[in-house]
Amino acid sequence: MTIKSCNDFSMVDMHQRLTEYLNRPIRIGNRRIDKRLIMAPMTFLGHVALRRVIGEFGGFGLLWTEMCNAKRVPTENRTVSPYFCWQDTELPYLVCQIFGADPEHMAAAAQRIEAEGFFGVDVNFGCSVKTICSQNCGAALLRDPNLAETIVAAIRKAVSIPVWVKFRTGWQDDPSYAVDLARRFEAAGADALIFHPRVSPDRRSRPPTWAYIGMVKESVSIPVFGNGNVFDERDCLHMLDSTGCDGVALGRLAVARPWVFAAWTTGLPVTPDLYLTTIRRVAGFLREHFGEDRALSRFRKLSLYYSANFRYGHTLYSSIMGAGHMAAAEDALQRFFESPPELNRRPNMNFFN
Ligand SMILES: Cc1cc2nc3c(=O)[nH]c(=O)nc-3n(C[C@H](O)[C@H](O)[C@H](O)COP(=O)(O)O)c2cc1C
Repeated sequence: MTIKSCNDFSMVDMHQRLTEYLNRPIRIGNRRIDKRLIMAPMTFLGHVALRRVIGEFGGFGLLWTEMCNAKRVPTENRTVSPYFCWQDTELPYLVCQIFGADPEHMAAAAQRIEAEGFFGVDVNFGCSVKTICSQNCGAALLRDPNLAETIVAAIRKAVSIPVWVKFRTGWQDDPSYAVDLARRFEAAGADALIFHPRVSPDRRSRPPTWAYIGMVKESVSIPVFGNGNVFDERDCLHMLDSTGCDGVALGRLAVARPWVFAAWTTGLPVTPDLYLTTIRRVAGFLREHFGEDRALSRFRKLSLYYSANFRYGHTLYSSIMGAGHMAAAEDALQRFFESPPELNRRPNMNFFN
């Protein structure tokens, strides 16, 4: 299906066209997903509590775990690990992301992930934080394409579930490097790619270069999901339209608005009361799945992105940051919503670091 330029459509047309496009099934390796809008992996944000809330709304193709250390995954106890944990009901649509530098460890982790019944496994070649890159993991591996390719091949050999690779442009702003990486991952047996077109030293300060998504898409025959700075329906349609990518992965927007998948693919009406009821549910599930301290630190992190929804979001954010325990954080929420807050059409980018 060809997507017309988003400038050609009214808002209603745009929504319809986007919904139609995102609801087209797509094959990923030996499986199929019904929707082309997926969640991007996010450490400390994509936890089981947030996923539970997103899961209740529905409307997505797949969700992602936080990144898990491949060395630990084979022996990890899911009932105590804060990262390698899930609800069994999520497994049919949950992909587990792993990081590591040793092909054997990565393959062993993938085998455990397959044995647990996850939809698929995803290799993290995108994380550029120091603690990960200093272990030669995440985006650091983009400097060593041979090793990166060997890792993908080892995982491919070890499992039959879909193998995803999430990666960035590389360490220099050179799209031909990203194209070469994509071809290598495909040749090594990857079933699908999530491509975030930013160079690795740039965390998220400069805009991603979406044109590179189109180049990567053209260079391989496996599905390519575009990622980076999709903050409303127009952005999403524009990314699909301008790059020809097969689907879109949403990161921070899914944290700010966990109903976004359902709103874009099933037409869920977004009413103002959704803002308070949703964040309360996240808080409740955080308490249920994590102890008080872990729940509070995750709630604080999430509140940064959530506060981006409101004109005076900084008030909400600073009162949650000042709360010493979950009950105080929930009181702060209640107070903020006592008079209906003014909503931003697009989240305030100043919060989206
Ligand atoms: C707090 C945070 C944590 C992230 N952690 C990961 C991660 O563990 N693995 C990964 O591949 N990407 C990670 N990302 C990157 C996102 O998956 C995504 O590529 C990035 O946020 C751009 O997409 P967006 O503009 O839709 O948010 C993280 C992003 C954020 C904001």
